[in-house]
Amino acid sequence: MIEYKNIVPWGRSYTEYVSMFNLTPEFLSNKVLGCGDGPAAFNSVATAFGSNVTSIDPIYDLSQKDIEKRINETFGDVISQTKLNLDKFKWDQFGSLEGLGKIRMKSMKQFLNDYEQGKEEGRYIAASLPEIPFENNTFDLVLSSHFLLLYSDHLDLEFHFKAIDEMLRVGKELRIFPIVDLNSNPSPYIQPILDKYNQSELVNVNYEFQIGGNQMMVIRRNEQ
Ligand SMILES: C[S@@+](CC[C@H](N)C(=O)[O-])C[C@H]1O[C@@H](n2cnc3c(N)ncnc32)[C@H](O)[C@@H]1O
Repeated sequence: MIEYKNIVPWGRSYTEYVSMFNLTPEFLSNKVLGCGDGPAAFNSVATAFGSNVTSIDPIYDLSQKDIEKRINETFGDVISQTKLNLDKFKWDQFGSLEGLGKIRMKSMKQFLNDYEQGKEEGRYIAASLPEIPFENNTFDLVLSSHFLLLYSDHLDLEFHFKAIDEMLRVGKELRIFPIVDLNSNPSPYIQPILDKYNQSELVNVNYEFQIGGNQMMVIRRNEQ
């Protein structure tokens, strides 16, 4: 059983984001907001490719040194909990636990190297869902990777509704990945969310690390 006391700062690669969210080359010309991007490499690499990505996360309140310290403190816990639950994951992508650790650290280093410049450029903004400090309709696409639905034991349904309403206020379309919780069980909030938002659907993606975690949820704003 995987159990984290808090929501951990743990960052994925740009390539993983592209696969998790079925991002096609057109996304490079979109204005994108990543909510809870933490120490992922997505913003830094997408920016290098010329795209317009902004990330929000409460850890962007911290200095680069303090985020690095948090990552190093978290690393051992995540790797040891993963080791005890190897059967919950598909290993074709990373090969082994060691391979996973290396790829994660590489992505998080890419983030750390970009962090100070990205903060100056306004690409990393300290903010916490369910509030987003942007005007209505600022973004084409809003992403949530490994925060909503994954942490269903930490965040209740009310929080999810508020966060989704806010994400749809600032963006036209929202994508959430994965739709399973930390133990790879379907989140109990999937159906209530699909029932509440009539422009919502589950879409298969070409990415699966948690077994059964190969779908994203897409929600579009109802235009009046
Ligand atoms: C598991 S990490 C995922 C990071 C990245 N999205 C990825 O997939 O690699 C979860 C992130 O959620 C952030 N977080 C925690 N509470 C949050 C909140 N209320 N609003 C937005 N992000 C939050 C954490 O700081 C952490 O960086």
